[in-house]
Amino acid sequence: MSEGTIAIAADHAGYALKEVLKEELEACGLDVIDLGTDSDASVDYPDFGRAVGEAVACGDAARGVIICGTGIGISIAANRIAGVRAALCHDATSARLAREHNDANVLALGARLLGPEVAHDCLRIFLDTAFPGGERHDRRVRKLG
Ligand code: RB5
Repeated sequence: MSEGTIAIAADHAGYALKEVLKEELEACGLDVIDLGTDSDASVDYPDFGRAVGEAVACGDAARGVIICGTGIGISIAANRIAGVRAALCHDATSARLAREHNDANVLALGARLLGPEVAHDCLRIFLDTAFPGGERHDRRVRKLG
């Protein structure tokens, strides 16, 4: 993905990784909407998952990236927004399949579980992999609502 707007947010546990990935996105020429948090002071992950989910659902961003300690809480929050398909990815394969099979529009990462290189690979592959569509995947993704 070489153009488009990406919304990104994290809680305190994901803040440092968010800053690194934000720089990578900007270096690729993508427009980034940073929805916080702005430090490692404790905050509540649902607020940040919801913010990115809403930005993607309303079309302000083409895709989203959300980060908390495990990626679990923030992905649950984002997935409560209609139209959001947030995928918690742990490696290049899960990031690729999240796009190819689920047409995921939000990448969720666990900063306490991943090293920076793995997080970088997840991000790059998530952005670069197209949803191929096709009758079977289209039907299943439609059923997600
Ligand atoms: C914060 O301590 C932690 O609970 C949060 O980052 C996340 O892992 C929740 O799912």
